[in-house]
Amino acid sequence: QKGGYRHFMLKEIFEQPQVITDCLAGRMDRKHNRVTLTELEALPTPSRLHIMACGTSYHAGLWGKYVLESLARIPVNVEIASEFRYKELVEEPGTLYLSISQSGETADTLAGQRMVRQKGLPVLGLCNVVGSSVAREADSVLYTQAGPEISVASTKAMCSQLVMLYLLGLYWGQNRGTLSAREMSQNLLTLETLPQTLTSQLPDMQKRARQLCPEYSRARSFFFLGRGIYYPLALEGALKLKEISYIHAQGYPAGELKHGPIALIEQELPTFALAMQNHLLDKIGSNLMEVRARNGKIIALTNPGVELDIDEKWEIPQLGDPLNSFLALPALQLFAYEMAVYLGKDVDQPRNLAKSVTVE
Ligand code: F6R
Repeated sequence: QKGGYRHFMLKEIFEQPQVITDCLAGRMDRKHNRVTLTELEALPTPSRLHIMACGTSYHAGLWGKYVLESLARIPVNVEIASEFRYKELVEEPGTLYLSISQSGETADTLAGQRMVRQKGLPVLGLCNVVGSSVAREADSVLYTQAGPEISVASTKAMCSQLVMLYLLGLYWGQNRGTLSAREMSQNLLTLETLPQTLTSQLPDMQKRARQLCPEYSRARSFFFLGRGIYYPLALEGALKLKEISYIHAQGYPAGELKHGPIALIEQELPTFALAMQNHLLDKIGSNLMEVRARNGKIIALTNPGVELDIDEKWEIPQLGDPLNSFLALPALQLFAYEMAVYLGKDVDQPRNLAKSVTVE
């Protein structure tokens, strides 16, 4: 059942290249350099998007905000479903509501979606489980096709959500004319080669994650820092570490550190930074110098050729943004996984957690 892997979580992390291939199947038209999402044909291109989700799916939504705003120039609002469902709904013409849920049964996400539909407003579901409540009750549904996710900690489902959000950005971008033919073609080409790149990288990533365990598993708390599209991934890295290794962790946009949390930095509180080669590298570099000046240990996930004053450099190939996310995400997942295994925790069934949260 575990296909030779020690845990379902590890198996599902290693399934991500296949998940990407399956998400892209039939949705990319390389001949005409277009994205085809037949599920969306009945819905008008929105002028605003409002995302509701919980946990890991919420982090995917936050990542989607950056990508959709950049590719399709559609303003996106992302809300935690348990907050959204109890607020006054402010109606804005042209808004499409997007529920993101792996299980499609999360009580808060479903309640948020029901509130929206009661007002006669359109909901698109982004779900993994076919025929789930979120899928059945949405006006239209995009399936992530990631296959059953057994491990309580979500991994491959998030990967599939990111692919679908990326495709949505390209789809609405092409409809709104915000992307040139060249940009479309470049985006599709890199997406197409992604599964192969990821397959070749995963074994080394697992080794690198394992190397870090003896020293870093002693920490009682961690910061995860990122900027731009890597900020939602920092949140996800922290969530994964918390839920399976029980080490406290907090994700922050790196620029926010000096507004309070930096007070906590000392030798015993390490930082895991996402510092890719992009327009924000200098910014995160100077945030890390501030950590260093306070004796904080730093692990940085970065690209070859990047110079940083840190303790542990973890290099992944430079695929550019947002594609680097598809390598950064499994690196974070493997880091949490290896730490939990090293500490002897029950990786697939973490304490106090259920796979699908069907009650409030
Ligand atoms: C974390 C995790 C949870 C879920 C959350 C939403 O690893 O699995 O945070 O992401 O409970 O679940 P879905 O996506 O099924 O609505």
